[in-house]
Amino acid sequence: MQFQLSEEQLMIRQAARDFAQQECLPGVIERDEQQKFPYDQVYKLAELGFMGMMVDPKYGGSGLDTVSYVLAMEEISKIDASVSVCMSVNNSLVSWGLEAYGNEAQKEKYLTPLAQGRKDGKLYIGAFLLSEPEAGSDATSQRTTAEDMGDHYLLNGTKNWITNGSSASVYLVMAQTDVAKGSKGINCFIVEKNWPGVVVAAKENKLGIRGSDTHTIMFNDVKVPKENRIGEDGFGFTFAMKTLSGGRIGIASQALGIASGAYELSLKYAKERKAFGKEIMHHQAIQFKLADMATRIEAARLLCLRAAWDKDQHNDYALSSSMAKVFASETAMWTTVEAVQIHGGYGYVKEYHVERLMRDAKITQIYEGTSEVQRIVIGRSILK
Ligand code: CAA
Ligand code: FAD
Repeated sequence: MQFQLSEEQLMIRQAARDFAQQECLPGVIERDEQQKFPYDQVYKLAELGFMGMMVDPKYGGSGLDTVSYVLAMEEISKIDASVSVCMSVNNSLVSWGLEAYGNEAQKEKYLTPLAQGRKDGKLYIGAFLLSEPEAGSDATSQRTTAEDMGDHYLLNGTKNWITNGSSASVYLVMAQTDVAKGSKGINCFIVEKNWPGVVVAAKENKLGIRGSDTHTIMFNDVKVPKENRIGEDGFGFTFAMKTLSGGRIGIASQALGIASGAYELSLKYAKERKAFGKEIMHHQAIQFKLADMATRIEAARLLCLRAAWDKDQHNDYALSSSMAKVFASETAMWTTVEAVQIHGGYGYVKEYHVERLMRDAKITQIYEGTSEVQRIVIGRSILK
């Protein structure tokens, strides 16, 4: 067993760390306050090759492994989780899904610009549309329908909570084509945002990741060409589940980054802040919090890397990615609450960053499968 990163992985981590400090840190408080999508940051991330990190270079990607992706996600999430969720959705839900299950024509037309994150000098990213007002955890209860009209499908319905909802150019949309077949009657379609009948509706005003644009998306008689269906008829739910197994590694790494960002700030603050004649790190109550943070974060990091390694080795990674996500997201929530506590009153105001990290941490326990859903996946797997 080796616990050493390769030269290339160390280089990627350093590049992501530098990018986060130089490009994401300036303005992060204002973007959060104003709910401003981090367009410039994501565009530069695309130039660095971080929007299609694991995609084969022949489709415009960087051809890196999942371990490198985890390292980069952690570094960027330490500073701005609104940037990293955009990166995670484009990398692991959209690009990976298309590369793994799309046909050559679909890859050429859509994957190449998505992996590059740019087209004609503009940002070109994707979104993943599974959730609906009445189908979140219970994802097989899709109400969005795609009626087979011969040479095309007619798409109708409403998706909500869609990350990159207005900034994406391409949507991967799950829809029911045959209700009688249940989950086997679901398909996934590649839909372009500017097609007639696609409506980008309300933007959510959120607790955290406020720079990320989360929208309701409606489809009114949208004509989707037959060639835009991914895989065989009825493959859509399996597509969503398989893709989410990888996506959960991305969100686990996001949670890891939020936790380690809060820990690093807390350690620095505890070394500087004095109370009762000594730095607060010398009060054992504070030291124990830091010790627990460091321990939980290291465990979360190992689970993330283990899941990434499983994926890189082509092992089954549904179990390890759910374990990584539930543990890392709960670590992020606990660590950020304690980080605010270590900062005292200063932790409660925006300038010290930890209150934002605390608000951002919460979403990692909800999206890409709530903590309860991860425990369902883990429970079913260990009982098999
Ligand atoms: N791989 C392949 N197939 C799978 C699978 C997997 N990982 N998981 C399930 N399936 C198959 C099952 O084998 C089953 O097929 P059969 O009927 O042939 O047996 C079929 O799919 C239905 O599966 P279940 O019976 O297990 O389905 P369920 O209704 O019990 O639900 C669930 C299972 C795990 C709760 C699932 O619905 C789920 O993951 N829900 C959460 C949804 C989710 O994560 N949404 C995230 C949206 S994207 C997002 O959030 C992005 C973002 O924020 C940034
Ligand atoms: P529900 O499923 O209604 O769950 C409510 C509560 O009940 C939760 O605590 C849940 O864990 C619990 N629960 C439900 N079923 C069970 C059960 N069987 N056992 C135990 N407990 C259970 N979706 C997308 O498709 N694409 C996106 O890009 C996307 N981005 C998002 C961004 C944000 C900011 C948010 C808030 C959500 C996003 N989502 C996205 C949706 C997200 O995946 C769902 O919110 C999530 O899956 C939970 O679904 P729900 O909100 O309908 O909650």
